Amino acid sequence: MSLVMDFAGKTVVVVGGTSGINRGVAEQFAEQGAKVAVASRSQDKVDDTVVALKKAGASAAMGFAVDVRDAEGVRAGLKSVHEAFGDFDVLISGAAGNFPAMARSMSPNAFKSVIDIDVLGTFHVLNGAYPFLRKPGSSVINISAPQSYLPLEAQSHVCAAKAGVDMITRTLSLEWGSDGIRINSVVPGPIDETEGMDRLAPTPELREMTIQSVPLKRIGYKKDIANACMFLGSDLASYISGVVLPVDGAWSQGGCGGIGQFLGEFARSQE
Ligand code: COA
Ligand code: NAP
Repeated sequence: MSLVMDFAGKTVVVVGGTSGINRGVAEQFAEQGAKVAVASRSQDKVDDTVVALKKAGASAAMGFAVDVRDAEGVRAGLKSVHEAFGDFDVLISGAAGNFPAMARSMSPNAFKSVIDIDVLGTFHVLNGAYPFLRKPGSSVINISAPQSYLPLEAQSHVCAAKAGVDMITRTLSLEWGSDGIRINSVVPGPIDETEGMDRLAPTPELREMTIQSVPLKRIGYKKDIANACMFLGSDLASYISGVVLPVDGAWSQGGCGGIGQFLGEFARSQE
Protein backbone atom coordinates (compact mmCIF):
# COMPACT_ATOMS: atom_id res chain seq x y z
CA MET A 1 0.00 0.00 0.00
CA SER A 2 1.32 3.40 -0.86
CA LEU A 3 0.22 6.22 1.37
CA VAL A 4 1.06 9.84 0.69
CA MET A 5 0.85 12.26 3.57
CA ASP A 6 -0.09 15.68 2.28
CA PHE A 7 0.61 18.56 4.63
CA ALA A 8 0.48 21.26 1.96
CA GLY A 9 -0.55 24.55 3.54
CA LYS A 10 -0.63 23.11 7.08
CA THR A 11 1.29 24.84 9.85
CA VAL A 12 3.77 22.65 11.72
CA VAL A 13 5.82 23.95 14.66
CA VAL A 14 8.77 21.96 16.02
CA VAL A 15 10.31 23.27 19.24
CA GLY A 16 13.79 21.83 19.65
CA GLY A 17 13.69 21.23 15.90
CA THR A 18 17.16 22.40 14.89
CA SER A 19 19.13 19.18 15.23
CA GLY A 20 18.87 15.43 15.50
CA ILE A 21 15.56 13.61 15.62
CA ASN A 22 13.36 16.70 15.80
CA ARG A 23 15.06 18.34 12.83
CA GLY A 24 14.49 15.12 10.87
CA VAL A 25 10.80 15.40 11.78
CA ALA A 26 10.66 19.06 10.72
CA GLU A 27 12.36 18.30 7.39
CA GLN A 28 9.96 15.48 6.60
CA PHE A 29 6.94 17.73 7.17
CA ALA A 30 8.68 20.28 4.91
CA GLU A 31 9.04 17.63 2.19
CA GLN A 32 5.24 17.31 2.30
CA GLY A 33 4.75 21.02 1.66
CA ALA A 34 3.92 22.25 5.17
CA LYS A 35 4.70 25.71 6.51
CA VAL A 36 7.28 24.77 9.14
CA ALA A 37 8.62 26.76 12.09
CA VAL A 38 11.44 25.65 14.37
CA ALA A 39 12.89 26.96 17.63
CA SER A 40 15.91 26.31 19.82
CA ARG A 41 18.52 28.25 21.79
CA SER A 42 21.02 28.77 18.99
CA GLN A 43 20.17 31.39 16.37
CA ASP A 44 22.80 29.84 14.06
CA LYS A 45 21.13 26.42 14.26
CA VAL A 46 17.73 28.03 13.68
CA ASP A 47 19.01 29.89 10.60
CA ASP A 48 20.69 26.79 9.19
CA THR A 49 17.52 24.74 9.69
CA VAL A 50 15.26 27.32 8.07
CA VAL A 51 17.43 27.22 4.94
CA ALA A 52 17.28 23.41 4.91
CA LEU A 53 13.49 23.39 5.39
CA LYS A 54 12.99 25.66 2.37
CA LYS A 55 15.29 23.44 0.34
CA ALA A 56 13.36 20.35 1.45
CA GLY A 57 10.11 21.77 0.05
CA ALA A 58 8.42 23.72 2.83
CA SER A 59 5.85 26.14 1.44
CA ALA A 60 7.28 28.58 4.01
CA ALA A 61 9.80 28.30 6.84
CA MET A 62 10.76 30.42 9.81
CA GLY A 63 12.28 30.08 13.25
CA PHE A 64 13.13 31.81 16.48
CA ALA A 65 15.81 31.43 19.13
CA VAL A 66 14.61 30.75 22.66
CA ASP A 67 15.43 28.72 25.72
CA VAL A 68 12.30 26.70 26.58
CA ARG A 69 12.92 27.55 30.23
CA ASP A 70 11.90 31.14 29.38
CA ALA A 71 8.09 31.10 29.40
CA GLU A 72 7.67 34.62 28.04
CA GLY A 73 10.22 34.07 25.29
CA VAL A 74 8.46 30.88 24.23
CA ARG A 75 5.08 32.62 24.19
CA ALA A 76 6.41 35.56 22.16
CA GLY A 77 8.11 33.29 19.63
CA LEU A 78 4.99 31.19 19.15
CA LYS A 79 2.92 34.36 18.72
CA SER A 80 5.25 35.50 15.94
CA VAL A 81 4.78 32.17 14.16
CA HIS A 82 1.00 32.44 14.52
CA GLU A 83 1.04 35.96 13.05
CA ALA A 84 2.97 34.70 10.03
CA PHE A 85 1.54 31.21 9.48
CA GLY A 86 -1.89 31.14 11.20
CA ASP A 87 -3.32 28.42 13.46
CA PHE A 88 -1.04 25.51 14.28
CA ASP A 89 -2.11 22.16 12.82
CA VAL A 90 0.77 20.18 14.33
CA LEU A 91 2.88 21.17 17.34
CA ILE A 92 5.90 19.10 18.32
CA SER A 93 7.70 19.71 21.60
CA GLY A 94 11.06 17.95 21.70
CA ALA A 95 13.70 20.04 23.46
CA ALA A 96 15.51 17.94 26.07
CA GLY A 97 18.69 17.65 28.07
CA ASN A 98 20.60 14.50 28.96
CA PHE A 99 23.92 13.33 30.37
CA PRO A 100 24.84 10.26 32.39
CA ALA A 101 25.35 11.05 36.09
CA MET A 102 24.78 9.23 39.37
CA ALA A 103 22.18 10.77 41.67
CA ARG A 104 24.55 10.69 44.66
CA SER A 105 27.13 12.89 42.95
CA MET A 106 25.03 15.03 40.62
CA SER A 107 24.55 18.62 41.77
CA PRO A 108 21.01 19.78 42.51
CA ASN A 109 21.39 22.25 39.67
CA ALA A 110 22.33 19.47 37.24
CA PHE A 111 19.15 17.55 38.15
CA LYS A 112 17.13 20.77 37.96
CA SER A 113 18.48 21.73 34.54
CA VAL A 114 17.05 18.57 32.95
CA ILE A 115 13.74 18.87 34.82
CA ASP A 116 13.48 22.50 33.77
CA ILE A 117 14.21 21.85 30.10
CA ASP A 118 12.03 18.76 29.77
CA VAL A 119 9.09 19.28 32.13
CA LEU A 120 8.84 23.04 32.55
CA GLY A 121 9.89 23.52 28.92
CA THR A 122 7.13 21.20 27.71
CA PHE A 123 4.63 23.08 29.85
CA HIS A 124 5.82 26.43 28.51
CA VAL A 125 5.53 25.26 24.91
CA LEU A 126 2.07 23.73 25.31
CA ASN A 127 0.70 26.47 27.55
CA GLY A 128 2.12 29.16 25.23
CA ALA A 129 0.79 27.46 22.10
CA TYR A 130 -2.73 26.75 23.35
CA PRO A 131 -4.29 30.00 22.03
CA PHE A 132 -2.76 29.31 18.61
CA LEU A 133 -3.72 25.65 18.17
CA ARG A 134 -6.41 24.90 15.58
CA LYS A 135 -9.59 24.01 17.42
CA PRO A 136 -10.84 21.51 16.47
CA GLY A 137 -8.30 19.52 14.53
CA SER A 138 -4.77 20.11 15.84
CA SER A 139 -2.31 17.44 16.92
CA VAL A 140 0.29 17.96 19.64
CA ILE A 141 3.22 15.56 19.94
CA ASN A 142 5.67 15.43 22.83
CA ILE A 143 8.97 13.69 22.14
CA SER A 144 9.65 11.49 25.15
CA ALA A 145 12.14 8.68 25.91
CA PRO A 146 12.01 5.11 27.28
CA GLN A 147 13.35 6.53 30.57
CA SER A 148 9.78 7.72 31.11
CA TYR A 149 8.72 4.21 32.09
CA LEU A 150 12.03 2.30 32.43
CA PRO A 151 14.43 3.08 35.26
CA LEU A 152 18.00 3.29 33.94
CA GLU A 153 21.11 3.83 36.06
CA ALA A 154 22.70 7.28 35.82
CA GLN A 155 19.43 8.63 34.45
CA SER A 156 17.37 9.57 37.53
CA HIS A 157 17.01 13.13 36.27
CA VAL A 158 15.93 12.03 32.78
CA CYS A 159 13.61 9.31 34.09
CA ALA A 160 11.87 11.81 36.38
CA ALA A 161 11.71 14.41 33.62
CA LYS A 162 10.36 12.22 30.82
CA ALA A 163 7.82 10.60 33.16
CA GLY A 164 6.64 14.15 33.81
CA VAL A 165 6.43 14.87 30.09
CA ASP A 166 4.28 11.79 29.47
CA MET A 167 1.97 12.65 32.35
CA ILE A 168 1.49 16.09 30.77
CA THR A 169 0.50 14.26 27.57
CA ARG A 170 -2.02 12.10 29.38
CA THR A 171 -3.48 14.89 31.46
CA LEU A 172 -3.87 17.34 28.58
CA SER A 173 -5.57 14.66 26.48
CA LEU A 174 -8.35 14.98 29.07
CA GLU A 175 -8.26 18.76 29.35
CA TRP A 176 -8.02 19.54 25.63
CA GLY A 177 -10.15 16.76 24.16
CA SER A 178 -13.29 18.88 24.13
CA ASP A 179 -11.41 21.51 22.07
CA GLY A 180 -10.75 18.85 19.45
CA ILE A 181 -7.02 18.88 20.21
CA ARG A 182 -5.28 15.52 20.26
CA ILE A 183 -2.05 15.05 22.20
CA ASN A 184 0.32 12.08 22.19
CA SER A 185 3.91 11.22 23.06
CA VAL A 186 6.36 9.55 20.70
CA VAL A 187 9.11 7.58 22.41
CA PRO A 188 12.15 7.09 20.17
CA GLY A 189 14.40 4.10 20.59
CA PRO A 190 18.12 4.43 19.83
CA ILE A 191 18.30 6.70 16.78
CA ASP A 192 21.34 6.87 14.52
CA GLU A 193 23.44 10.02 14.14
CA THR A 194 21.96 11.91 17.08
CA GLU A 195 23.28 13.70 20.14
CA GLY A 196 21.24 11.38 22.37
CA MET A 197 22.86 8.29 20.87
CA ASP A 198 26.32 9.89 21.08
CA ARG A 199 25.78 10.67 24.75
CA LEU A 200 24.25 7.34 25.77
CA ALA A 201 26.29 4.99 23.55
CA PRO A 202 29.54 6.90 22.99
CA THR A 203 31.79 3.97 21.93
CA PRO A 204 31.55 1.57 18.93
CA GLU A 205 31.16 -1.30 21.44
CA LEU A 206 28.21 0.38 23.17
CA ARG A 207 26.65 1.20 19.81
CA GLU A 208 26.89 -2.43 18.67
CA MET A 209 25.60 -3.66 22.00
CA THR A 210 22.67 -1.30 21.67
CA ILE A 211 21.82 -2.54 18.18
CA GLN A 212 21.95 -6.16 19.33
CA SER A 213 19.62 -5.32 22.21
CA VAL A 214 16.89 -4.14 19.83
CA PRO A 215 14.55 -7.05 19.04
CA LEU A 216 14.29 -5.87 15.41
CA LYS A 217 18.13 -5.94 15.31
CA ARG A 218 18.67 -2.55 13.82
CA ILE A 219 19.29 0.99 14.91
CA GLY A 220 16.44 3.45 14.40
CA TYR A 221 16.54 6.28 11.89
CA LYS A 222 15.21 9.82 12.15
CA LYS A 223 12.77 8.81 9.43
CA ASP A 224 11.22 6.21 11.75
CA ILE A 225 10.29 8.95 14.21
CA ALA A 226 9.22 11.38 11.48
CA ASN A 227 6.89 8.73 10.02
CA ALA A 228 5.23 8.24 13.42
CA CYS A 229 4.83 11.99 13.88
CA MET A 230 3.31 12.36 10.42
CA PHE A 231 0.82 9.61 11.18
CA LEU A 232 -0.13 11.18 14.53
CA GLY A 233 -0.30 14.59 12.86
CA SER A 234 -2.65 13.35 10.15
CA ASP A 235 -6.36 12.58 10.04
CA LEU A 236 -5.48 8.88 9.98
CA ALA A 237 -4.92 9.26 13.72
CA SER A 238 -8.06 11.32 14.37
CA TYR A 239 -9.23 9.01 17.21
CA ILE A 240 -5.83 8.65 18.88
CA SER A 241 -5.10 10.87 21.88
CA GLY A 242 -3.39 10.39 25.23
CA VAL A 243 -1.13 7.66 23.88
CA VAL A 244 2.56 7.13 24.70
CA LEU A 245 3.86 5.43 21.55
CA PRO A 246 7.25 3.69 21.57
CA VAL A 247 8.91 3.75 18.13
CA ASP A 248 11.86 1.60 19.07
CA GLY A 249 11.84 -1.82 17.40
CA ALA A 250 10.56 -3.21 20.75
CA TRP A 251 13.79 -2.08 22.47
CA SER A 252 12.05 -0.93 25.62
CA GLN A 253 10.02 -4.17 25.93
CA GLY A 254 13.27 -5.93 26.76
CA GLY A 255 14.47 -3.22 29.16
CA CYS A 256 16.65 -1.42 26.57
CA GLY A 257 19.29 -4.15 26.77
CA GLY A 258 21.83 -3.51 29.47
CA ILE A 259 22.33 0.14 28.61
CA GLY A 260 21.43 1.28 32.12
CA GLN A 261 24.20 -0.85 33.61
CA PHE A 262 26.73 0.46 31.10
CA LEU A 263 25.66 4.04 31.77
CA GLY A 264 25.97 3.34 35.49
CA GLU A 265 29.51 1.97 35.06
CA PHE A 266 30.46 4.93 32.89
CA ALA A 267 29.02 7.49 35.30
CA ARG A 268 30.65 5.79 38.33
CA SER A 269 34.01 5.94 36.55
CA GLN A 270 33.57 9.71 36.14
CA GLU A 271 32.82 10.38 39.83
N1 COA B 1 27.47 15.41 34.54
C1 COA B 1 27.08 16.01 35.68
N2 COA B 1 26.61 17.28 35.74
C2 COA B 1 26.53 17.97 34.58
C3 COA B 1 26.92 17.41 33.35
C4 COA B 1 27.42 16.07 33.36
N3 COA B 1 27.83 15.48 32.24
N4 COA B 1 26.74 18.35 32.39
C5 COA B 1 26.26 19.44 33.00
N5 COA B 1 26.14 19.21 34.32
C6 COA B 1 25.69 20.15 35.34
C7 COA B 1 26.53 21.41 35.40
O1 COA B 1 27.73 21.22 36.15
C8 COA B 1 25.57 22.38 36.08
O2 COA B 1 25.49 22.16 37.44
P1 COA B 1 26.26 23.15 38.52
O3 COA B 1 25.74 24.54 38.25
O4 COA B 1 25.88 22.62 39.85
O5 COA B 1 27.73 23.03 38.20
C9 COA B 1 24.22 21.95 35.53
O6 COA B 1 24.38 20.63 35.01
C10 COA B 1 23.76 22.85 34.40
O7 COA B 1 24.81 22.93 33.46
P2 COA B 1 24.87 24.07 32.36
O8 COA B 1 26.00 23.77 31.44
O9 COA B 1 24.81 25.41 33.02
O10 COA B 1 23.46 23.79 31.73
P3 COA B 1 22.73 24.31 30.51
O11 COA B 1 21.45 24.68 31.03
O12 COA B 1 23.50 25.29 29.75
O13 COA B 1 22.68 22.95 29.63
C11 COA B 1 22.47 20.53 29.74
C12 COA B 1 21.82 21.89 29.92
C13 COA B 1 23.46 20.31 30.87
C14 COA B 1 21.38 19.47 29.80
C15 COA B 1 23.28 20.43 28.43
O14 COA B 1 23.84 19.15 28.33
C16 COA B 1 22.44 20.69 27.20
O15 COA B 1 22.27 21.84 26.80
N6 COA B 1 21.88 19.65 26.56
C17 COA B 1 21.05 19.79 25.34
C18 COA B 1 21.37 18.74 24.33
C19 COA B 1 21.13 17.34 24.81
O16 COA B 1 21.25 17.02 25.99
N7 COA B 1 20.77 16.49 23.86
C20 COA B 1 20.43 15.14 24.13
C21 COA B 1 18.97 15.04 24.20
S1 COA B 1 18.55 13.36 24.59
P1 NAP C 1 19.52 16.97 20.04
O1 NAP C 1 20.07 16.89 18.66
O2 NAP C 1 20.39 17.47 21.13
O3 NAP C 1 18.19 17.83 19.95
C1 NAP C 1 17.74 18.61 20.99
C2 NAP C 1 17.10 19.84 20.40
O4 NAP C 1 16.56 20.62 21.46
C3 NAP C 1 18.07 20.75 19.66
O5 NAP C 1 17.38 21.42 18.62
C4 NAP C 1 18.49 21.76 20.74
O6 NAP C 1 18.94 22.94 20.10
C5 NAP C 1 17.16 21.92 21.47
N1 NAP C 1 17.29 22.31 22.87
C6 NAP C 1 18.01 21.71 23.86
N2 NAP C 1 17.87 22.39 25.01
C7 NAP C 1 17.04 23.42 24.73
C8 NAP C 1 16.51 24.48 25.50
N3 NAP C 1 16.82 24.61 26.80
N4 NAP C 1 15.68 25.37 24.92
C9 NAP C 1 15.36 25.26 23.61
N5 NAP C 1 15.83 24.28 22.82
C10 NAP C 1 16.66 23.38 23.39
O7 NAP C 1 18.98 15.58 20.57
P2 NAP C 1 18.33 14.23 19.97
O8 NAP C 1 19.18 13.12 20.45
O9 NAP C 1 17.99 14.33 18.54
O10 NAP C 1 16.99 14.16 20.86
C11 NAP C 1 15.77 14.76 20.43
C12 NAP C 1 14.63 14.28 21.31
O11 NAP C 1 14.50 12.86 21.20
C13 NAP C 1 14.80 14.58 22.78
O12 NAP C 1 13.54 14.92 23.34
C14 NAP C 1 15.30 13.27 23.35
O13 NAP C 1 15.00 13.12 24.73
C15 NAP C 1 14.54 12.28 22.50
N6 NAP C 1 15.18 10.96 22.41
C16 NAP C 1 16.32 10.79 21.71
C17 NAP C 1 16.86 9.52 21.55
C18 NAP C 1 18.10 9.29 20.69
O14 NAP C 1 18.46 8.15 20.40
N7 NAP C 1 18.76 10.31 20.23
C19 NAP C 1 16.25 8.41 22.17
C20 NAP C 1 15.10 8.62 22.92
C21 NAP C 1 14.56 9.89 23.03
P3 NAP C 1 19.86 24.06 20.82
O15 NAP C 1 21.11 23.38 21.25
O16 NAP C 1 20.06 25.10 19.75
O17 NAP C 1 19.05 24.61 21.93
